[in-house]
Amino acid sequence: MRLTVFGTGYLGVTHAVCLAELGHEVLGIDIDAAKIEMLGEGRVPFYEPGLEHLLLKNLESGRLRFSTSYADAAEFADLHFLCVGTPQKRGENAADLSHVDAVVDTLAPLLTRPAVIVGKSTVPVGTAARLTVRVRGAAPAGEGVEVAWNPEFLREGFAVADTLRPDRLVFGIERDRPGSAEGALRDVYTSLLTQGVPLVVTDLATSELVKSSANAFLATKISFINAIAEICEATGADVTVLADALGYDARIGRSFLNAGLGFGGGCLPKDIRAFAARAGELGVDQALSFLREVDSINMRRRTKVVELVAEACGGSLLGMNVAVLGAAFKPESDDVRDSPALNVAGMMQLHGAAVSVYDPKAMANSRNLFPTLEYATSTSGACKNADAVLVATEWAEFVALDPVELDSAVRARVIVDGRNCLDPSVWRSAGWIYHGLGRR
Ligand code: UGA
Repeated sequence: MRLTVFGTGYLGVTHAVCLAELGHEVLGIDIDAAKIEMLGEGRVPFYEPGLEHLLLKNLESGRLRFSTSYADAAEFADLHFLCVGTPQKRGENAADLSHVDAVVDTLAPLLTRPAVIVGKSTVPVGTAARLTVRVRGAAPAGEGVEVAWNPEFLREGFAVADTLRPDRLVFGIERDRPGSAEGALRDVYTSLLTQGVPLVVTDLATSELVKSSANAFLATKISFINAIAEICEATGADVTVLADALGYDARIGRSFLNAGLGFGGGCLPKDIRAFAARAGELGVDQALSFLREVDSINMRRRTKVVELVAEACGGSLLGMNVAVLGAAFKPESDDVRDSPALNVAGMMQLHGAAVSVYDPKAMANSRNLFPTLEYATSTSGACKNADAVLVATEWAEFVALDPVELDSAVRARVIVDGRNCLDPSVWRSAGWIYHGLGRR
């Protein structure tokens, strides 16, 4: 099939590349000419394992191209995926839909043939219905244009695998137009459906809500275990052992029960806020008021880590050298949007510490966001003369750190494990003072 993908961020590039990998002819569109040029040359503008290899492969096959031209897009295909960002509005909790609206407003007047616009971006419930009216009003093809929603559940760091082997596919289809967009989407994903990937076909509103609810649930699960970590801290219990014990209950499950610095990134934080804001607009704000608590628990973890490092340094951060290992919001990503690691690094600097940050992939993005922090080029460089070392992102190379090797770099053998990813006994037996979150 011929398909277009609007937006070449984490979601759009992965989707375009994977659609080509599934055998379709794909045209990726973005208004950012520099990004389009980079992608056309086979370079991915962010770090995502395995993606660049597939990009090159599909560019070479001729199935994948990139362009800035909406006219080319409207001419090329009749099924258009919308993958642009929906960030948090400045100074508000609601989602900023200006990018989504801009794509639809620019594309609609060019749609002279019947077409389907398929949204993948995370949007407040009701957006698809609103866009349907808007696009039909502006498109020469009028009623011939359909809007469907096919929410995306990929995780950064596993984006390719999550797209080519998703847990499920969800199609939101207009209630009074059953059949046509659903058929087109079934054709797009034929190979996944024949492999047995579960499919849920529903209305537009339900499909939008599936995504908001999934992220709200994941955020709640993380904040639940972090709230329990606070109780563990007050009682001397160990949250990691507790989480293992909870996880054996199949109804609960062990994943997303890792207590630590909490969630960040470009999705969970802004999505729970937008979801609660939308509930308010709908007059049911009480239904999601617990998400504000989920948010507060999450943010408290960042303050807690700053306090823990200060305690580990003898009560104050003033004049202390602190090494921060990890800046990305999670491992296998260079994304620093709302990164707990960088946030904590910035707070410790404000408390008077000299902070040196090292991340295997996120250095350039970190420098752009927090130019005033000091950046090292290696773990040992960041740890030079450190009074405390904070592991803020659980990259494999930090999990595998040898305390004996690090010994010669630091001024004091103090390690704060912000992700509970280290083995305390290994560090303690090497003479280090180990601090975890929610554990003695
Ligand atoms: C999240 C969802 O997991 C995806 O399903 C969704 O498609 C995506 O948002 C999106 O809306 O686009 P992602 O932001 O890539 O994916 O990252 P996650 O793996 O969910 O991790 C989010 C944050 O939670 C990270 O900061 C991670 O360190 C933290 N986390 C995760 C914990 O603190 N504890 C855990 O047990 C798990």
